This record gives sequence, structure tokens and C-alpha cells, in this order.
Amino acid sequence: MEPQTSLAELLRHQLKLTGTKIVCNHGECGACTVLLDNKVVYACHMLALDAAGKSVITIEGLLQGEELHPLQKAFVDHDGLQCGFCTPGQIMAAQGLLLKNPHPTREEVLVGMSGNLCRCAAYPHIIESVLAAAQNNSPKI
Ligand code: FES
Ligand code: FES
Repeated sequence: MEPQTSLAELLRHQLKLTGTKIVCNHGECGACTVLLDNKVVYACHMLALDAAGKSVITIEGLLQGEELHPLQKAFVDHDGLQCGFCTPGQIMAAQGLLLKNPHPTREEVLVGMSGNLCRCAAYPHIIESVLAAAQNNSPKI
């Protein structure tokens, strides 16, 4: 790993955790969202070295054995995806939001998810998915 390797590059290219997507690669779209010590970060926008000693959770880390995480299930049940390219980042952003605020209002979900773009404009279903997961309130890691 080079000193300039981003966390997203490390995850995708070296650790082969390809659920984390790189789209804009400069901190604008949220496709690379992961949790760093349970806080939402853009993995393309930070150096891998800066994550040393910290907990990093990717979309792969949400799976519970063979079972989908409740947020992943909510996205499936509520059609929270179309092409799916933004979905890992959306789900990680939602997980960060629900860890901070287990019962957000619709407005809080809108604000909490505002850092994640969806080119398919699946926003209404994404918001419904997050609200449904919050209703069951089981954001587990
Ligand atoms: S790829 Fe990281 S914010 Fe767009
Ligand atoms: S589902 Fe296609 S970019 Fe969001």
C-alpha cells in the first residue's frame, strides 16, 4: 500500500471488498460510504493510513451470517434500489444515521441521507426503506 492509497482503494483493490463503490472519487456522491468507528465517512476521501487502529465497517460487514441485515432487507422489501450502484453507500449512510438516531423523523432521514446521490432517483423508495428499518428499529452491527 502506498501512503496516498485511499481507504476506498484499499478496501476494493487490496482487500477485495468490492461492495464499497468508487464513483466520483472526490467526496461528492457517497457511493463509497463506510462506517469508521461507527461514523459515516466517504472512503474515497480519506487515506487508508488514517483508518489505522479504527473500526471500519463496509456493506459486507452488515451481513449477519447468511442473513441480510434488517436495513438490507428493508431496501429489498421497499424497492430501495434500481441499478443498485449507490445502494451499499446508501445503506451504510442509513446505518450511521440509525446508530445515532434510532427513530428519525422523515425530515431527519432526508437530511441524514442527503450526502448520498442516486442517479436512478430512487429517493422516495430509499427514504421509505430507511423509515421501515427504523420502525423495526434493529440497526445491529
Ligand atoms: S466515490 Fe466517494 S464520494 Fe463519490
Ligand atoms: S439505484 Fe441506481 S444509482 Fe441509485
